[in-house]
Amino acid sequence: MGIEAWYMDSTDEDPQKPHRLEPNQPVSLDELKKLGVFSVKLNADIYENDPELEQIRKDQGYSYMDIITIRRDTLPDYEAKLKIFYSEHLHLDDEIRYVLDGQAYFDIRDKQDRWIRIWMTKGELITLPAGIYHRFTPDETHFTKAMRLFIGEPVWKAYNRPADEFEIRHKYVASLQGS
Ligand code: LAC
Ligand code: NI
Repeated sequence: MGIEAWYMDSTDEDPQKPHRLEPNQPVSLDELKKLGVFSVKLNADIYENDPELEQIRKDQGYSYMDIITIRRDTLPDYEAKLKIFYSEHLHLDDEIRYVLDGQAYFDIRDKQDRWIRIWMTKGELITLPAGIYHRFTPDETHFTKAMRLFIGEPVWKAYNRPADEFEIRHKYVASLQGS
């Protein structure tokens, strides 16, 4: 068990559909690691009092956390937000998300700039490295409740592609060499 990932087809259909290739072209956790993407499976039923989560937060310095519920009736400006989330972007810091309920897609670029779709379901925590191009959408269930974690004061600023001028982007690209 754990997250499932695959290469995306390139049709412009509804982003919330799976967009698998035919036949499906899976991407392993190992391949994700090589791109700097890490995931861990936790027990989301006990997130409010979970020693495993506490340990991760302590070890990684994830001092900040909040919870966002992405659903039409709970998220103001739902449609507009979804558009922003699905615009390809990067951040100057790691993006850390823990799915507490529902499910969602995180799409990331591989070394050849192909889209990899990562399907996150309840209990999965993912770390996207600073400088990686990515985007996000709920899946066809239209519901994601996620914990956002951050080291220190959160910075949610997203830089839409192209954003290649940032030092962190150079660092990220360099980190892919030889992996
Ligand atoms: C974020 C997701 C949408 O930046 O990538 O919050
Ligand atoms: Ni992001």
